[in-house]
Amino acid sequence: MKITVIGTGYVGLVSGACFADSGNTVLCLDLDARKIDMLNSGGIPIHEPGLETVVQRNHAAGRLIFSTSYDKAIDHGDVIFIAVGTPPDEDGSADLSHVLAAARSIGERITRPVVVVDKSTVPVGTADAVRATIADELRKRELNIAFHVVSNPEFLKEGAAVDDFMRPDRIIVGSDDPSATSVMRQLYKPFNRNHDRLIEMDVRSAELTKYAANAMLATRISFMNELANVAEALGADIEAVRYGIGSDPRIGPHFLYAGVGYGGSCFPKDVKALVKIANDNGKSLRVLEAVEAANDLQKNVLFSKICRHFGGAERLKGTTIALWGLSFKPNTDDMREAPSLVLIRQLLAAGCRIQAYDPVAISEAQRILLKEFGEQQCSEMLKFADSPWDAVQGAAVLALVTEWREFRAPDLHRLAALLSQKAVFDGRNLYDRKDVEAAGLAYYGIGR
Ligand code: UDX
Repeated sequence: MKITVIGTGYVGLVSGACFADSGNTVLCLDLDARKIDMLNSGGIPIHEPGLETVVQRNHAAGRLIFSTSYDKAIDHGDVIFIAVGTPPDEDGSADLSHVLAAARSIGERITRPVVVVDKSTVPVGTADAVRATIADELRKRELNIAFHVVSNPEFLKEGAAVDDFMRPDRIIVGSDDPSATSVMRQLYKPFNRNHDRLIEMDVRSAELTKYAANAMLATRISFMNELANVAEALGADIEAVRYGIGSDPRIGPHFLYAGVGYGGSCFPKDVKALVKIANDNGKSLRVLEAVEAANDLQKNVLFSKICRHFGGAERLKGTTIALWGLSFKPNTDDMREAPSLVLIRQLLAAGCRIQAYDPVAISEAQRILLKEFGEQQCSEMLKFADSPWDAVQGAAVLALVTEWREFRAPDLHRLAALLSQKAVFDGRNLYDRKDVEAAGLAYYGIGR
């Protein structure tokens, strides 16, 4: 099939590359010429395991084309995916200007029947708006071309996106037209073998399914984070409780890990947007409002523990804190809404020096922090280390923020020898208290 993907962000690039890998000819469009140049010369703009190989392989085979030309892009595809960003507006609702601009560009150019697919996470009703926008443009051109708008939300996890795409646990297709549904079935056939994972539904339900999935997962996390704080007050261990409840098949073991709060490009944005969608339609989602509030508070948890250890924030001035992990989760360089940023802001405000290490997110973190704090404060107070041990050298305590694999089993005796104030703040419950204490370090976990 000939496919066009509008937007080479995270979702667009992964989807385009994976569709090309199953034999389709895919044209990925982006208006950002630098990005397209980079892709055309074999680079990729994000860190995502396995993606570079799939992109390069298909680009070399001529099945994956990158372009900045809307004329070429719309001429190319029989199926046109809209995978542009929907950043949050000030009031939390998703900004649809890029989606609707893409719809307009489609309506201005199509010359034959197409299936238009919303891949971006968009409020319920957006497919109708996309349809109306395209129809409007066709009316202006006095053309009567058949087209259908389908909702096909993505459920890709950063750090595992290629795998999630190649082996999806479900493919949601919201369509009001049987012919468009069958095009989607055909397209997803290579990823939908052995047993049927494609779930057909109406367009609005598909749009809501995406928000509902992320909201449910965020709810589990905030619930566990609040429960962890209760467990701590009660002298219980949230890790035992997690295991205890997760073995109930009605609850299941996933997304029950207490930590420093959820971040990333999806959960914070989608939770806010769903609350807004509900309110705009005269309904409330009190549970979800609490999920967001609890998450904002949870991002303070490591700083509170560090303050307690030192006997108050005012005693932190001049202390050097080592940070392990900056990205919002492992296997990505994505810093959006990362809990590490909240901790860094708090530590800097308290007059601490920071020595941070992350396997891939340092340059992204540097870019963000330089913009926020300026050259001088960054060079005086923030050091980015070349290795986890380099970060710990000369530090008072260690705070683990992101659970990268390489942090799982450090030499705790070496750590104890290097940290002058002998304490580890484990924001992901990665270590066993007794191992850390046996090495002569104080241990602070989450909810234990
Ligand atoms: C999420 C959804 O999982 C994915 O289906 C959707 O398409 C996009 O949003 P992603 O943002 O990549 O994916 O990350 P995810 O692995 O879901 O983690 C989100 C956040 O929750 C991270 O900050 C992570 O650290 C946190 N988290 C996750 C927890 O704190 N505890 C958990 O048990 C699981």
